Amino acid sequence: MVEFTLPKNSKVKKGKVWSETSGKKPKRSKDFKVYRYDPSTGENPQVDVYTVDLDSCGPMVLDALIKIKNEIDPTLSFRRSCREGICGSCAMNVGGTNTLACTKAITDISGAVAVYPLPHMPVVKDLVPDLTNFYAQHASVKPYLQTTSAEPESEWKQSPEERAKLDGLYECILCACCSTSCPSYWWNSERYLGPAALLQSYRWLVDTRDEAVGERLDDLEDPFSLYRCHTIMNCANTCPKGLNPAEAIGEIKQMMVKRKA
Ligand code: SF4
Ligand code: SF4
Ligand code: FES
Repeated sequence: MVEFTLPKNSKVKKGKVWSETSGKKPKRSKDFKVYRYDPSTGENPQVDVYTVDLDSCGPMVLDALIKIKNEIDPTLSFRRSCREGICGSCAMNVGGTNTLACTKAITDISGAVAVYPLPHMPVVKDLVPDLTNFYAQHASVKPYLQTTSAEPESEWKQSPEERAKLDGLYECILCACCSTSCPSYWWNSERYLGPAALLQSYRWLVDTRDEAVGERLDDLEDPFSLYRCHTIMNCANTCPKGLNPAEAIGEIKQMMVKRKA
């Protein structure tokens, strides 16, 4: 049997245990086991444990991380902006699931809360993944209206029924929870576009105002960009906005078949 071992420098070590800074023993507390990694130091990643007083903390995992950063350890790095599930920047792996830290309730997790960066992405620092490739893939699907007809005088119009075709697609906040939960993407992220970029691709393919359907499908017509999806469904199960990228990918495959018929 083949045995795999991790390179020495990628083994996650036990880290520091940080105590609550108020000096008093909190009545209600929660431990957060947080992945720490700074590639510039040459040190292995480690998991630090922080105890947070829940009676002086907001209800969400992001509230606890902000409290840790403000009151216990200012060196902890993570991204956040809107704190209401709109910007997508606080996406991370909480309790083993990719999600948004700002909409994940601390009380949803029993026991200590494990907090890691989105899986299978290079780490810039701690909970901050490098999304350069992810954004480049999004840009590659040309996520904007392409037309050849003369510009209308006022606007490109759609009927309510045509507009409804974009429901379940336009809501994507590009958080990357889906792509980083997809095994096909883990192994082929250089060539497989992944569920997030493909959901966006479909969002423009079904936009009745767009006039570049043929070119868009041409761009996906290779063995990797689209066809590495094996309908494993991790993407739909993890999307914090309740979207279904796997279904969108299935629809693109149908469009490919139909245009050949
Ligand atoms: S359904 Fe496709 S895109 Fe979604 S997780 Fe599975 S392989 Fe990835
Ligand atoms: S489909 Fe869902 S999980 Fe994927 S990027 Fe969009 S919002 Fe995030
Ligand atoms: S901070 Fe914007 S989605 Fe969480």
